[in-house]
Amino acid sequence: MPDLYAVTGHPVAHSKSPFIHAGFARQTGQDMQYEALLSPLDAFPGTVSHFRQRGGKGMNITVPFKLEAYHLANHLTERARAARSVNTFRFDGETILGDNTDGVGLVRDITANLGFAITGKRVLVAGAGGAARGIILPLLAQQPCQLVIINRTLERAQELQAFFAASGNIVAGSGHEFAGEVFDLVINATSASLDNSLPPLPPVVFSQDSVAYDLVYGKGLSPFLLFAQQQGAARVADGAGMLVEQAAESFFLWRGVRPETAAIIQTLKDPGLA
Ligand code: ATR
Repeated sequence: MPDLYAVTGHPVAHSKSPFIHAGFARQTGQDMQYEALLSPLDAFPGTVSHFRQRGGKGMNITVPFKLEAYHLANHLTERARAARSVNTFRFDGETILGDNTDGVGLVRDITANLGFAITGKRVLVAGAGGAARGIILPLLAQQPCQLVIINRTLERAQELQAFFAASGNIVAGSGHEFAGEVFDLVINATSASLDNSLPPLPPVVFSQDSVAYDLVYGKGLSPFLLFAQQQGAARVADGAGMLVEQAAESFFLWRGVRPETAAIIQTLKDPGLA
């Protein structure tokens, strides 16, 4: 019997995770099966316990259950604790280990795949919701010279700034304070791309060396990436690489083997993107 894994969410049919993990398993020769499990909105704990009864060894958790997963875990990694969100479970007897591999996936995509060193750079993160919270600690671990977090609702950015202040040089604002300041890396962690809108950004954020990164992954350029390109950013990237890298990190947590990611990222990426 192969070891059993799954992604659960609502909806879940669109998830690329079964495709990605099947590719990893083939490539590394791991004997495992990975399925997509639709959880009813009001029955996430039941979905998880039923899956554990079936012998499930681990799970990925997607929208809208990452916060519930955080509360259901009985052990948390430091990065999951900081993110207040769990996208990966590993089951071991009574232990439900909750991890969050999103931030480290983003950082690996930027540093290893895009070849951009974050250390010493000025980083702007737009957005202060769950997605932003999940990436801050791994970004600060790269020791950027400064991480600026801006948000439409200033208080949420300030809350994150206060929470992460001890972990690095982090500043919060609503955007206009940084008019005329240029950033090396600009990350869109708002959900604006999902409804095809552009989050407000201070004028002149991109230089000819800047990288623009949208956490959202989809067909073509998001309004944010299009704007970055028009403003002269050197490179634009969407979240396809992050998606594959967070999966690779989950795979590593479960199997102790790190899969190659480049070929799978290529199959998911829009040809117009970095
Ligand atoms: P997620 O889990 O995707 O982060 P969230 O917690 O609801 O979802 O957070 C959404 C983020 O996108 C917030 O930072 C939100 O700004 P507010 O805190 O002001 O609501 C931001 N956001 C969503 N749509 C936006 C838009 N059209 N323009 C600017 N920011 C937007």
